[in-house]
Amino acid sequence: MASLTIKNAVKRYGNVEVLKGVDIDLQDGEFLVLLGASGCGKSTLLNMIAGLESVTEGEISIGDRVINDVHPKDRDIAMVFQSYALYPNMTVAKNIAFGLEMRGVPKAERETAVLEVAKMLQMDHLLDRKPGQLSGGQRQRVAMGRALVRRPEVFLFDEPLSNLDAKLRLEMRTEIKRLHKRLNATMVYVTHDQIEALTLADRIAILKDGEVQQLASPAEIYDQPVNMFVAGLVGSPPMNFIKSKVTQADTGLVAEVSVLANGVEQPMLLDLSQQPADLTDWIGREVIVGLRPEAITQDGQGASFDSDIDVTEATGADTLCVLTWNGQEVMARVSSGYAQIIEGTMAFSIDMSRASLFDPKTEMRLS
Ligand SMILES: Nc1ncnc2c1ncn2[C@@H]1O[C@H](COP(=O)(O)OP(=O)(O)O)[C@@H](O)[C@H]1O
Ligand SMILES: [Mg+2]
Repeated sequence: MASLTIKNAVKRYGNVEVLKGVDIDLQDGEFLVLLGASGCGKSTLLNMIAGLESVTEGEISIGDRVINDVHPKDRDIAMVFQSYALYPNMTVAKNIAFGLEMRGVPKAERETAVLEVAKMLQMDHLLDRKPGQLSGGQRQRVAMGRALVRRPEVFLFDEPLSNLDAKLRLEMRTEIKRLHKRLNATMVYVTHDQIEALTLADRIAILKDGEVQQLASPAEIYDQPVNMFVAGLVGSPPMNFIKSKVTQADTGLVAEVSVLANGVEQPMLLDLSQQPADLTDWIGREVIVGLRPEAITQDGQGASFDSDIDVTEATGADTLCVLTWNGQEVMARVSSGYAQIIEGTMAFSIDMSRASLFDPKTEMRLS
């Protein structure tokens, strides 16, 4: 296994700059997720690491070896694609062993390696089948087996679970996590699914238009997003963004919003005293207060207030309530199931220690 360093990586197709100078440093054994919308350059970056695309500018290294000009087959990297890319005429065993065979690994050694990997992925009973006789999930397992059997220094995954149904995707996600724990391998995993990113990654790199917005642990990305793009990308339902003026109250700095309660708009002061940012320059100006739905609860921490409930959506584990602040929808997450009917005007509490503040012009976090 090895570290992976991407230094100022640029990719241009003609005049179009698809990657605009990406810097990412991965430690040996780290699981990095590249998260971003379709077209932001995730696959391009992965293909550059694999050697399937050239590097226009910058440097990619594995360990202390620069690999820009190293042939893909000499990079000691294995890649798992969304499309599986299996050979339809070969059995599962052959598919898994194929790469080893190309490298001239002796038959007995190949068979041992294939069996070990098949057991690890719980598909040793499928070894004689052809891909056409497998389900989508089983095919994805074969594709993973083919990568695993080579024991590469770095694993690359390009949206490997996108073609699976929701239940199977969950199972395979757990399996990939288990594999990473077991192998302790360096992995780069591309997805547009924020839940996959949050659950799998040691660190997440959020890409937008070929630029890394934030590279940090899932907890940091979730709790301290660097800008409104990142804040809106992770979390479901997404963070509430509430425009509000900063004012000096007797108790300290506050942000004032109006809340619809008993059919009337009532002023509410959001306490900003726990914000790490120095807000003195912001007094009298508008900021965006970012609050995740779970920071607005019932019987939780923080100041309490009354609010009319516009709509509720019970998900089973918890219930989402749509409230009206400043005339806009604000989502609250209440931890009660179907049993309790939530409607009318109710008391909520708001945990301002979990709020993020953003500059409305630049959309950057104030910190
Ligand atoms: N061979 C190519 N020639 C020109 N543009 C390309 C080529 N391959 C990818 N692109 C463009 O690069 C951008 C990033 O693509 P890609 O890396 O596939 O995005 P993602 O995997 O994040 O969906 C897209 O706008 C895409 O159209
Ligand atoms: Mg892609």
